[in-house]
Amino acid sequence: MDNNKRKELKVSAIRNGTVIDHIPSDKSFQVIKILDLESSNNPIYFGTAFESKKYGKKGIIKISNKYFKDEEISKIAMVAPSATLIEISDYEVTSKEKVVLPEFIDKIVKCFNPNCVTNVEDVETKFRVIEDHNGEMKLACHYCEKTMKKENIEFF
Ligand code: CTP
Ligand code: ZN
Repeated sequence: MDNNKRKELKVSAIRNGTVIDHIPSDKSFQVIKILDLESSNNPIYFGTAFESKKYGKKGIIKISNKYFKDEEISKIAMVAPSATLIEISDYEVTSKEKVVLPEFIDKIVKCFNPNCVTNVEDVETKFRVIEDHNGEMKLACHYCEKTMKKENIEFF
């Protein structure tokens, strides 16, 4: 069996849709959750703990007939910054890009400060994406100025 065949047997090819590749293995289920794929009516293929030369162990998700919006791509980038987004059209790869974090995150993340105006009044959240000295992503709230570590991020 040649290498290509072996690879295809792992997770089958899709006709139209999106492949999320290079997900850190331990983030695979979280990506499914934040994209709400459990309630999807489109066929989904999912695999985790696959061997990857570059990433150690990786997860991969293939969603038929679905292309993600910027907001959803931002979520993926927050949870799985190493992920690659591959769009498939009529079995062909039409685009392949690493997910990128935007400069600002609006509406999709909850501020962890209970006293923040966004938790008390009807104000939509807004965060600036920053990096700490270790290169770890953090979110700085536009309103209360508190910074949130990745592990404290909660999506609406
Ligand atoms: N893929 C798919 N359905 C298709 C075409 C591709 O599910 N109709 C998936 C492949 O399984 C692979 C990814 O999309 O996981 C990227 O496809 P391709 O660029 O053809 O793969 P490779 O050349 O192996 O790229 P890489 O080394 O980046 O994985
Ligand atoms: Zn706040």
